[in-house]
Amino acid sequence: MSERPTDAPADVPAEAWSGVHRGPLREGEWVRLVDNKGRKHNFELVAGKRFFSNKGHLDHDDMIGREEGFTLVSSAGGQYLVFRPLLNEFVVSMPRGAAVVYPKDAAQIVALADIYPGARVVEAGAGSGALTCSLLRAVGPWGRVTSFELREEFADVARRNVNQFFSAPEGQTHPAWDLRLGDLKEGLPTLGTDVDRVILDMLDPWNCVDAVADALVPGGIVCAYVATTTQLSRVVETLRVHGGFTEPQPWESLVRDWHVEGLAVRPGHKMIGHTAFLVTARRMAPGEAPPRKTRRPAPGAYGPDYTGPRPADVPALESVQPDLDPARPLDD
Ligand SMILES: C[S@@+](CC[C@H](N)C(=O)[O-])C[C@H]1O[C@@H](n2cnc3c(N)ncnc32)[C@H](O)[C@@H]1O
Repeated sequence: MSERPTDAPADVPAEAWSGVHRGPLREGEWVRLVDNKGRKHNFELVAGKRFFSNKGHLDHDDMIGREEGFTLVSSAGGQYLVFRPLLNEFVVSMPRGAAVVYPKDAAQIVALADIYPGARVVEAGAGSGALTCSLLRAVGPWGRVTSFELREEFADVARRNVNQFFSAPEGQTHPAWDLRLGDLKEGLPTLGTDVDRVILDMLDPWNCVDAVADALVPGGIVCAYVATTTQLSRVVETLRVHGGFTEPQPWESLVRDWHVEGLAVRPGHKMIGHTAFLVTARRMAPGEAPPRKTRRPAPGAYGPDYTGPRPADVPALESVQPDLDPARPLDD
């Protein structure tokens, strides 16, 4: 990974490989129609084709050639808002193999794992390619996203989705993308030791910690995305026990819509409560360790019921008091 990541030409316009199209809608592009009940329909524009709904039909030809952002009325009087789909709209409507990283979490990953233009990023697994699209957009054509995926059928779905989003010409893909079939643990050591960021969205990210530590540059970031608290505990403790990372930072994000209408200003009734937890940690320089924690773990935190990885400096099993509440830190 040490040479210049891609050979994208120097005169590439800023929006190249962003997945964003400008100007009038063209045949072959995807559009997103939203009716007045909020129902969404995504499809490719094909000259001469018709879109049918419970409100009659619309002709693709009535959309091709127009600037996006208009309302079209169907043959039975249905009103449809017409735009090109945004990245966050595309990933929740595209075909899925594996479960996708939701846009709210992809945004957190890009911001808090500090994905930047030109970064050399590794991710696993590629799954359906949802996070891949955000990573590619953030690194740009001069960065590098190497995506590992264990399962061929998921890799195929990811390839199709990514190529569709970035409108890759037949037989090509985003110039910064390298999709590899296989296990990250085996593939990562072949990439060298100058990876800037590693994003793990898989069942057992803790099993990848050693390979990630070897591949990351000093100051590099590992970010894991896990669905359950047991996974969260295991990955955090494994990063801690490794000793070559800063104290792991676990968090989740909750996004709530608001209803704003005159004096009726209140939270929306529905929200996406839980999607997954995120953890980030930074790679220390070779041979360096993070400062020892001055705060003792909560009593019982690593008591007899705890079976996961055990930091070297926590009290031995015999000396903890399991009857105390492990959720309450001693210092409170
Ligand atoms: C939840 S999906 C990833 C979804 C993806 N991030 C997205 O946004 O579309 C998890 C994927 O990780 C893959 N996987 C699990 N362990 C892996 C490993 N060690 N190396 C590579 N891929 C792995 C699985 O096959 C699965 O497709």
